[in-house]
Amino acid sequence: MDTDNKNNEKINSTKDYYNGIAQGYKNLYHEEQILKLNYVKDKFPKVGKVLDAGCGDGVLNQFIYSDCELYSFDLSEELLKLNNNISNRKFCGSLTDLSIFEDNYFNFISTFSVIQDIPNFELVFDEFIRVLKDDGILFLSFVKFSLKREKILEIINLKFEVVEEFEETKDLIFILKIKK
Ligand SMILES: C[S@@+](CC[C@H](N)C(=O)[O-])C[C@H]1O[C@@H](n2cnc3c(N)ncnc32)[C@H](O)[C@@H]1O
Repeated sequence: MDTDNKNNEKINSTKDYYNGIAQGYKNLYHEEQILKLNYVKDKFPKVGKVLDAGCGDGVLNQFIYSDCELYSFDLSEELLKLNNNISNRKFCGSLTDLSIFEDNYFNFISTFSVIQDIPNFELVFDEFIRVLKDDGILFLSFVKFSLKREKILEIINLKFEVVEEFEETKDLIFILKIKK
């Protein structure tokens, strides 16, 4: 099986997993996700376009200022159904392909506990850089015990300026700007 097929298979099994646990996601994960978001929520811009990349059922939404335009994007249609983003800006797909968005579109992107699930996550970083405005901000966390940790850190250091970083119980959390 070639690499693209393997990656697609892994993405499909991730989708099945999250569709399967969608109804229980809130009870399983909200408390711990809020602990992570508490590190950065006060630093979110008050206006502009925000992409919640791998939004799940929308635990982030409560922290987004009302003058922001929130775009919610996730692989799992079942989690998206539960997401209370009341706009029509809800999108189902893989973050490896954000071609529905034009270049330099978002003021900030938040992606919490997502990237380590994606086999070809390098593509996701390329897409984030493409759709973020030059002065945009990426709020990112990933599971710190992930086998992909070193590769993810390598890309962060190569392509981004680290504005702030935090270590919490399960995740490493970063506030990043694109390197000029
Ligand atoms: C641990 S959950 C985190 C959800 C949300 N960010 C939060 O903090 O509650 C991981 C999320 O990433 C999504 N996801 C995994 N792989 C993805 C991909 N390739 N493209 C888009 N979303 C993906 C899953 O469907 C799931 O909603």
